Amino acid sequence: MRFQLTALLGLAMQVSGALAAKPPSSSETFFNRTIYTPPSGTRALYPRVAELEDGTLLVTTTVFGGNFFGGKEQAFPVWESKDGGATWAWVSNITDQVNGWGMSAQPALLELRQPLGKFKPGTILASGNSWSSTGTRIDLYASTDKARTWEFVSHVAAGGAPNTTNGATPVWEPFLLAYDKQLVVYYSDQRDPKHGQKLAHQTSRDLLTWGPVVNDATFPEYLARPGMTVVTYVPPIKKWIVTYELPVGDSSSHGANYPVNYRLSNSPLTFDAEESIEILVTLPDGTRAAPNASPYVVWSPSGGPNGTIIVSDADRSEVYVNTKGGDRDAWEMVESGQPAAYSRALHVFEKKKDLLMVLGADTFDGNGWGGVSVTVESVTELVGGTSPQPHPTGQPRGCTGQS
Ligand SMILES: *[C@@H]1O[C@H](CO)[C@@H](O)[C@H](O)[C@H]1NC(C)=O
Ligand SMILES: *[C@@H]1O[C@H](CO)[C@@H](O)[C@H](O)[C@H]1NC(C)=O
Ligand SMILES: *[C@@H]1O[C@H](CO)[C@@H](O)[C@H](O)[C@H]1NC(C)=O
Ligand SMILES: *[C@@H]1O[C@H](CO)[C@@H](O)[C@H](O)[C@H]1NC(C)=O
Repeated sequence: MRFQLTALLGLAMQVSGALAAKPPSSSETFFNRTIYTPPSGTRALYPRVAELEDGTLLVTTTVFGGNFFGGKEQAFPVWESKDGGATWAWVSNITDQVNGWGMSAQPALLELRQPLGKFKPGTILASGNSWSSTGTRIDLYASTDKARTWEFVSHVAAGGAPNTTNGATPVWEPFLLAYDKQLVVYYSDQRDPKHGQKLAHQTSRDLLTWGPVVNDATFPEYLARPGMTVVTYVPPIKKWIVTYELPVGDSSSHGANYPVNYRLSNSPLTFDAEESIEILVTLPDGTRAAPNASPYVVWSPSGGPNGTIIVSDADRSEVYVNTKGGDRDAWEMVESGQPAAYSRALHVFEKKKDLLMVLGADTFDGNGWGGVSVTVESVTELVGGTSPQPHPTGQPRGCTGQS
């Protein structure tokens, strides 16, 4: 999260050079396929994906600007694919049913595979940030009919007005994980006076009542603003990984003002005890570079005995891969073929774990085409450098360094 609200629609930058999309290597893989083209004056960003047990894929996104919902409050559109992401149908909109504020931004999706409270396996959960000029609310919704209709379940966390200045008290950016018969809702939290922002989570066993705020990433430096939690499991090393951006005042690392960090932990509930490690890669010209902003992380068993940890950032079409169990010196940058975008999402197909989805929408500064599009490719090819699209120029396509 790197913006004042007023800046959301205002900024524009010129970017030259386009990444050419290449033909698919097989029917299961393709590059930059369109899911949704928004009406003029509207743009999509921060897309999210969930896979259902039967292989159905669901995608949602934030939509900013224009008159998307007929001038009414914002909502999260939901699309469904039954063919591995090749074609998509718009199946519902997740609307705010309780605040009168809209579902403003930062959606999250998850299908329950185990019962939780009165909610059966197959229930689809959605969260997001519902905000107004007076507050931010991370709310939970559920669908028991495969994302056709949605019902409010509970408020998870509430904070002050959406304001990224340190000292303001909003909450942001939920991420959902089902773990040990609980739902974990991770989010970014500005309410603790000791920290400009921190990462925290709350858990629930019935989705109705929520436990205390537990820290996931805090720093003694007040200006540190860890943000945008994503968590996944890395089976060969029996560790959970969390990625986040880590702006600290005006400082930067290798040109990145929002350098991407990660922590590895035995439990997804105890990240705050672990060391924060920055991802760094060496570019083809020998210089070191740091991924910048809005990271996402997934793991695939392809790529070697430790599989591959795959991380996306906001500024490059490339992704960052690690086949050495998260070893800090083993990150490499490889071309993904999916244009750079703010808060791209990654997904490894549950029944075809060599297939990686990279899901994108607009860039932070609005210099993308504004719609939602998707790439599906082989992790083996991605890591092995044999993916059929062109290899990295090493040049960031987006705009690093702005805030
Ligand atoms: C991705 O697809 C969109 C929609 O067709 C297009 O406008 C954009 O130029 C494509 N980007 C790249 C890098 O191929
Ligand atoms: C979602 O909302 C948009 C805007 O109001 C509307 O055009 C569209 O038909 C809705 N889609 C569904 C599936 O409800
Ligand atoms: C944002 O928060 C800061 C710190 O609390 C405050 O000084 C500022 O007035 C707030 N901005 C708005 C637009 O309310
Ligand atoms: C797998 O990861 C572990 C933990 O980081 C490491 O000790 C081991 O050397 C790695 N194996 C390979 C083949 O990279």
